[in-house]
Amino acid sequence: MTSQKMNQKTKTSNEQKTYNFGAGPACLPEQVLTQIREDIPDWYDGMSIMEISHRLPAFMDLAQTIEADLRHLLRIPDDFAVLFMHGGARSQFSAVPLNLLDQAQTADYLDTGVWSEMAFNEAKKYCKPNEVASAKSNGYTRIPDEKEWSYSEKGLYFHYTDNETIQGLEFHTAPKRQNKWLIADMTSNILTKPIDFNQYGLIYASAQKNLGIAGITVVIVRKELLGKAHPMTPSMLDYSIYHQSQSLFNTPPMFCWYVLGLMVKWTQTLGDCEALKRLCEQKSSLIYDVIDSSDFYHNPVNKQHRSRINIPFRLPNETLESQFIQQAHSLGLKQLKGHKIVGGIRASVYNAMPMQGVNALVNFMQDFQKKHG
Ligand SMILES: Cc1ncc(COP(=O)(O)O)c(C=O)c1O
Repeated sequence: MTSQKMNQKTKTSNEQKTYNFGAGPACLPEQVLTQIREDIPDWYDGMSIMEISHRLPAFMDLAQTIEADLRHLLRIPDDFAVLFMHGGARSQFSAVPLNLLDQAQTADYLDTGVWSEMAFNEAKKYCKPNEVASAKSNGYTRIPDEKEWSYSEKGLYFHYTDNETIQGLEFHTAPKRQNKWLIADMTSNILTKPIDFNQYGLIYASAQKNLGIAGITVVIVRKELLGKAHPMTPSMLDYSIYHQSQSLFNTPPMFCWYVLGLMVKWTQTLGDCEALKRLCEQKSSLIYDVIDSSDFYHNPVNKQHRSRINIPFRLPNETLESQFIQQAHSLGLKQLKGHKIVGGIRASVYNAMPMQGVNALVNFMQDFQKKHG
């Protein structure tokens, strides 16, 4: 590491606490960072996790422990396989149709924001996806009423994004299953609530939020859906191959697996999924309360569909917004800039964001409003 980088880090930590509100890559818990620092020089037999064979029993044990811990925490039933894949959530936009279309020429997709629209567009390479409904016409401020959704007759699955990280829309209850499996992108809200797996065919989530660091994607898939991949499916996207090889078909990103393992163990210390849900609601409602009790801050999303994890909001004008971001940054409240597609501010409160961080943001919002409102 250059001395310049080391100096920057030392300076920040001496001056004040840093709270990272970035949407992803997101903050990691202090305990996890400390453990990583301790483990790096010698994770196994004088070597780091990045230098050993993934075929060693020590790594195989780690892989089994991660799966067991994740199964326990999320209460994943035995008829689901848990896969650890490469390529981020975006590669699942291809993997899902390639593996699950099973000769069908169509599948159902709901558009509630940037990520679900991207999944829908990617699916067009493999079939003629049916857009069940779209929130585009309401500016992605509410999830279209389920009564107005129009399903295809022949599509075997229904894909939706459980939490839209950019626009800040979230399903507070899962959509009704109808006669096809729900497939959910839970990249930004996995481990924030209990999941009723009876409704789902598959859930995927890439890691750089509640599951650790970018480079690994968790896929939880109903075993009966395996083995039907299109013959052209690249092996690296084929769920059955991952299942048969315990996700060790090729060299896995071992460091990402290891961090995932630490994250799941750390998340267990917060409690079960009900406890995670309460925590997430407590944190986000503190921020929404400030927004809703003012004319200064504004969140455009229908209250029933607001994300409990990614909270976008606007100020009266862009000049104030950039002042807000700069001043927050100088106080240690980092990465609050909204996504470039929607602008404004966005506060993400993943599990690793402590309540102190949320309180610090809320206090800053109130002070800023007093000065500029
Ligand atoms: C809901 C959602 N889906 C998909 C993605 C894309 O993930 P990745 O960058 O891992 O491909 C993101 C990224 O933030 C996301 O928030």
